[in-house]
Amino acid sequence: MKIVYWSGTGNTEKMANLIGEGITEKGKSVDIINVSDANSDIFNEEEIIILGCPAMGDEVLEEGEFEPFIEEISSKVSGKKVALFGSYGWGDGTWLRNFEERMISYGCQSTLDLLMVENEPESSDEEKCREFGRQIASL
Ligand SMILES: Cc1cc2nc3c(=O)[nH]c(=O)nc-3n(C[C@H](O)[C@H](O)[C@H](O)COP(=O)(O)O)c2cc1C
Repeated sequence: MKIVYWSGTGNTEKMANLIGEGITEKGKSVDIINVSDANSDIFNEEEIIILGCPAMGDEVLEEGEFEPFIEEISSKVSGKKVALFGSYGWGDGTWLRNFEERMISYGCQSTLDLLMVENEPESSDEEKCREFGRQIASL
């Protein structure tokens, strides 16, 4: 499995690592990839697309790297399942719900609840991230 993420201050990266722990607990292997190291074919062989990006701008995805990456994969993801996560600071989760709608508009199936964590994942949020990983591994 492959997780592609963007993270400015490390919170979404920490989520990605915890989700990865949950996936490996279930006996599946996972690559955790910074979007700057990803190309648009990265999910070609995957049934599930796992993407993480914090709320940026005004409830949007990060615009320098992550947003262009999503645009690049948009024509290649139809029929795949998608699992979306990210950290936020003060909003109500609009950025992630809009992201989900967008992936659905590209033909993805969103079967898991979105995973959002306020700032850095700590204590119970860490377990939520691992559980999200276990659920992904069982899709
Ligand atoms: C430029 C910028 C814009 C942001 N915009 C939002 C926002 O619209 N809504 C929100 O809830 N948080 C917003 N935040 C807060 C971040 O989502 C939050 O700090 C998050 O934990 C960052 O995750 P990261 O450590 O993975 O970069 C913003 C932060 C920055 C630096």
